[in-house]
Amino acid sequence: MPDTTILGIETSCDETGAAVVRSGREILSNVVASQIATHQPYGGVVPELASREHLRAILPVVRQALAEARMDYESVDAIAVTQGPGLIGALLVGISFAKALAFSLEKPLVAVNHLEGHIHAVLLEQQRESGELQFPVLALVVSGGHTHLYLARREQNSWTYENIGHTRDDAAGEAFDKVAKLLGLGYPGGPVIDRLAPHGNPAAVKFQTSHLKNPDRNRPQSGDEPRFDFSYSGIKTAVLRYVETRGLAPAIVARRQELLKTGKPSAEDYLRVCDRETLDLVASFQRSMIEDLVAKTLAAANEYDVQTLFVSGGVAANQELRATLSRAAELQGVRAFFPSRALSTDNAAMIAAAAYPKFLAKDFVLADLSAEPGLALGGTRSA
Ligand code: KG4
Ligand code: ZN
Repeated sequence: MPDTTILGIETSCDETGAAVVRSGREILSNVVASQIATHQPYGGVVPELASREHLRAILPVVRQALAEARMDYESVDAIAVTQGPGLIGALLVGISFAKALAFSLEKPLVAVNHLEGHIHAVLLEQQRESGELQFPVLALVVSGGHTHLYLARREQNSWTYENIGHTRDDAAGEAFDKVAKLLGLGYPGGPVIDRLAPHGNPAAVKFQTSHLKNPDRNRPQSGDEPRFDFSYSGIKTAVLRYVETRGLAPAIVARRQELLKTGKPSAEDYLRVCDRETLDLVASFQRSMIEDLVAKTLAAANEYDVQTLFVSGGVAANQELRATLSRAAELQGVRAFFPSRALSTDNAAMIAAAAYPKFLAKDFVLADLSAEPGLALGGTRSA
């Protein structure tokens, strides 16, 4: 099989991404235009602004990806684009652009599920380093929009996914973002909490996770396969209660203003505006989140007797999660793989990589491709 180069396009949320990937493995370019500055004043992604920013960025980002790969439109073999899940307006920008490119260049178009993209981000690097993976692989996709566990299987060029757990309410990244916003730390919250947590005492505040509160939640009904669901809205409310009980609101208002004045705060700026109690709170919150993610993921690995674990999505960039999960997995005889931190968050290289097996299988889409904001990945055994 000669080398195949795929131009991937990703616009599902607040990053405009374009990348050229050779044969599903080798990243020739991976350009991401972040919209963080646009959404920061609102403390979260504003869908209309996201669409507008994608419109502005898509052409320069695609051109840059081709230039960095030393390619032109004619020399790529296929165009791949994220079909969903994501924000409808944001997805439509990438899809319209990709369809126009594929049509005018007479190249095949491949539609990719964003979640499958996150899973393939791990593979992208993994395939370069080692050959054999033990299937099925357990994949934890943990991001701002998702906390999902899949069993992934590969047969030749065909990948199949089975969902064995998902969040019942907030995604883990959403909980990081909401808690950071609540504490006046701005958006996105995950990277800030990640940086601040090592400076606090993770045992200072005891938070209960859904697992402890609802021990029956994951117990199967008779005849059903067990599920490994998550729930993170409770911990966010618990942080809010703590803030209220401890009278932290005035300090939070002052912190928010101070950080806004600073513009682009550095790690030192964040540390300067956080007192000991806030650092302890942040560390305790992160520890609880990670303990829950690790416990449920490894329980699922044990139940399904898997030996390979992929962890991907924005929250997979978290240092404490990477260290804790790797250590705990090893003790259980499971090999845990993470993408590099840059490939953990949204990017188009993962979309081009996930498109490669579909390209080989000639799984192409036509001009009637439309955005699927609620697109699911694979099937489930029980609801
Ligand atoms: O995968 P991603 O870029 O976009 C979605 O598909 O959602 O994930 C973004 C999410 C945000 O919630 C962000 O706060 C979180 O990932 N995140 C992190 C870290 N970096 C990004 N959460 C914890 N620690 C991090 N280092
Ligand atoms: Zn994502």
